[in-house]
Amino acid sequence: MIDKISDTRKIFDEDISKVNNLQALEELRIKYLSRKGIIPQLFDLFKEISKEEKKIVGKELNELKNYAQQKYDELKSKLEAEEKTKKELSLDVTLPGRIKTIGSKHLITQTLDEIKNIFKGLGFSVYEGPELESDYNNFEALNFPADHPARDMQDTFFINQNFLLRTHTSPVQIRLMKSKKPPIRAIMPGKVYRNEVISAKSYCLFHQVEGLYVDKDVTFAELKGTLIAFLKQFFGDDVKYRFRASFFPFTEPSAEMDVWWQPKGKEGRWLEVLGCGMVDPNVLINVGIDPEEYVGYAFGMGIERTAMRKYGIDDIRILFDSDVRFLRQF
Ligand code: DAH
Repeated sequence: MIDKISDTRKIFDEDISKVNNLQALEELRIKYLSRKGIIPQLFDLFKEISKEEKKIVGKELNELKNYAQQKYDELKSKLEAEEKTKKELSLDVTLPGRIKTIGSKHLITQTLDEIKNIFKGLGFSVYEGPELESDYNNFEALNFPADHPARDMQDTFFINQNFLLRTHTSPVQIRLMKSKKPPIRAIMPGKVYRNEVISAKSYCLFHQVEGLYVDKDVTFAELKGTLIAFLKQFFGDDVKYRFRASFFPFTEPSAEMDVWWQPKGKEGRWLEVLGCGMVDPNVLINVGIDPEEYVGYAFGMGIERTAMRKYGIDDIRILFDSDVRFLRQF
């Protein structure tokens, strides 16, 4: 019996020295320590031996049992600790974190916000009108008579005989003057549509900001002063600009304003940024305002063009492409 105990201890030592994972350890536990394992079986044999022998054997047997249990417990905690670090190592803390991409305002929205803020500072309020407009508001009331050649300046998407996608923000002037008595001082931003061949210079959709000031003693000099103040705030004090006489059916006299564009390393040129003028008396009559009592000035500018001039962009289509490589730059 004593020999059996010492042999068991030897094989146990050999077996446990080969164990290198928790599963093998569990197999070892079953083999030696479980209810039907080798060691409890020795205890069964123990019952059958003589009293004298029991004294010595009992001690040895208990020692074997405690020894095996202790070795098992030690190895178990060691293997569990190893397993835990292995798991932690598979998590690479040096990997870069996932970047959350936060959206930002489109360049056109940014430009519109900037323009609105400048005009708010100059005492203008903001007013908006619909993109689907009547032929009357878009043309007729603005002094474009039916079949007048001036309509050719704006290629129109007609919905039917009486309705269209507005070709400019000027019809919002009409809505505003019909709904409110002077003094009126407002800007009117929004989308406009033109049935044009798409190119680097023109797109079927773009944005405009309209401006209108109607009161008893509004002058052309005030119009000029307001627009110059705007351009300086928008482009910077050193902006080079000029006024040029022009024609619009709804203003008389009319002018256009150009801004000097100087791309790096290339030849500079004048770029038209806005149209303006004194509100034509016919327009005031169309909205029920007495032109003997009131005068007004108006202006309208293209946002894409203005943004392109400010940020040195030479193709309008890129503003509608939604290419994040471009958009991220602003
Ligand atoms: N509506 C004109 C256009 O789209 C721009 C314009 C010119 C607006 C003169 C005005 C103005 O209010 O006075 O080309």
